[in-house]
Amino acid sequence: MNALRTLALAWAVMSAVELAVAQTGAALNPVRGKQLYYDHGCYGCHGFNGETGVRRLVGTGSSTLESADAFVAFLRLRADAKPLLPSATMPSYPVTALSDADARDIYSYVHTFVLHEPDPKGIGTLQSIVDSAKAPYTSVATAQDKVTDAMARLNVLLPREAEQTLALSAAPEHLRANASVYVYGAHGFERVHRGTNGFVCLVNRDAFLYGDAHFKPTCWDAGGEATYVPVMLKVGEMLAARESAEAIRTAIDSGFESGRFHAPDSSGVAYMLAGDVDLDPATGLVRQASPGHYMFYANHATNAQLGFTPDAKRNDPTLPVVSTAGAGGAHGLSYIIVVPGQAHAHDHPKD
Ligand code: HEC
Repeated sequence: MNALRTLALAWAVMSAVELAVAQTGAALNPVRGKQLYYDHGCYGCHGFNGETGVRRLVGTGSSTLESADAFVAFLRLRADAKPLLPSATMPSYPVTALSDADARDIYSYVHTFVLHEPDPKGIGTLQSIVDSAKAPYTSVATAQDKVTDAMARLNVLLPREAEQTLALSAAPEHLRANASVYVYGAHGFERVHRGTNGFVCLVNRDAFLYGDAHFKPTCWDAGGEATYVPVMLKVGEMLAARESAEAIRTAIDSGFESGRFHAPDSSGVAYMLAGDVDLDPATGLVRQASPGHYMFYANHATNAQLGFTPDAKRNDPTLPVVSTAGAGGAHGLSYIIVVPGQAHAHDHPKD
């Protein structure tokens, strides 16, 4: 068979598939597509049924949703733009991150979405439910809702390069080039660069454990790599597998019990110089949610020991504070957090 005929045949097969997709919405593999829709974090921004989130994927009349070709082309749109930092305007999915076949299966799944939007007018109770659902984190939301919501927001695959840049932005400049880097993928964190200076950087996603959806780019020293990092990797693995927060807590606890995880026995530093980072699905922007800071392994230090008071901290944000909020915090993976600042510079005598 000559090349031209092969090509013609392939085209004919493809057209038939296209046609079937257009007619039934199911000729490809929507079941696989569903899994991929979760694996690639589409649901994080578009909702579980494409009906919520930053942009509806159903009932909009958008031409992007009318053919698999247009759909795949749209996913590739930003492939060459390579934004420096991820922004929540639709990320780029180059063919290296999402194959054509996978993208088409996602398309066939998205095509099964049905718009269920009720017409609530005149139904008082329903309208009030709709209204309260529009205001996130009102008193109606329980702590459990908050954790679940934070998990969905954090379980998002960012474009790899952007994730890597974000991870390294936690370190002081002179440590970035030779640090090891992990990025978050469909199965949790995977190492993409093996460094030589003993530092390990990744965009930590454990904030859901305390009900936050902040991404936390962090770079740990070698002591942290042996102690904190294995716990953060475990959290990432289980988050990617969509395990419950309860299951994740249990796994952390039993890891410490079995000796698989352990707190450091000497002091050390983890850098979070980019601060906590918010990915705002409404505006599509990444913004700093807390100032950059140094974190020193606290080895069971307490705020009382530091003389910490909330009032004093309000007056002087550079004061150190102990944090035990993250994964393993109860088992000694705590930090003394210090926000660098100019506040005390004038106190130092010049000699
Ligand atoms: C970080 C948030 C985010 C993620 C993750 C995300 N999207 Fe989007 N998506 C958006 C935003 C915002 C828009 C609309 C604005 C734009 O064009 O950037 C959009 C638009 C789209 C559109 C165009 C809709 C239209 O009306 O034309 C499609 C199709 C789409 N996304 C599919 C996907 C698929 C498939 C995935 C997973 C592989 C995905 N998105 C992951 C944020 C996201």
